[in-house]
Amino acid sequence: MRHHEGMATTITLVRGDITEQHADAVVNAANSSLLGGGGVDGAIHRRGGPEILAACRELRAGHYGKGLPVGQAVATRAGRLAARWVIHTVGPVWSAEEDRSAQLASCYRESLRVADELGASSVAFPAVSTGIYGWPMDDGARIALAAVRAADTAVTDVRFVLYDETAYAVFAGLADG
Ligand code: AR6
Repeated sequence: MRHHEGMATTITLVRGDITEQHADAVVNAANSSLLGGGGVDGAIHRRGGPEILAACRELRAGHYGKGLPVGQAVATRAGRLAARWVIHTVGPVWSAEEDRSAQLASCYRESLRVADELGASSVAFPAVSTGIYGWPMDDGARIALAAVRAADTAVTDVRFVLYDETAYAVFAGLADG
């Protein structure tokens, strides 16, 4: 058990492309297969090169034979990215019928737990689940910010990397308030 009380985590909002971030770790909005997809996942594998997919295949051949469950996180090397590690997490698909916000919060908490295990002090997150998985940006941003603020972590620099103006504005509105 490690405790990080008193450790200050600075949250920064950045408009841009997560694959260009110089952070110790960048978080991938993956799917359970860990074998790639569109959005952030596609961009990370394209820019990071085949080393990341090879590492993901090793995970599937080992501990994650059935894939990575929703709300969990696992790290691989980062290939040609500037980051040292990619932390893959699987967000929940948006549902109007079922409240899956605990699973989304878990993505952020578990990613930071993995970052602590790695000894990463800076972590860049995308807005998990707010793209192909259909989560409304406002709700997704609220959950993301609350989860990071509540996390007990040694990570000192958390960056949310927002791809478009609207996403950035939503996060900025909530971060101020
Ligand atoms: N940098 C930062 N943010 C980005 C980038 C980028 N390069 N590209 C997109 N976004 P998504 P999800 C934003 O769809 O909703 C994949 O197929 C995007 O505008 O990447 O969790 C996986 O394999 C949105 O706000 O992730 C899964 O099957 C946010 O990042 C599925 O998509 C997340 O969008 C996961 O869907």
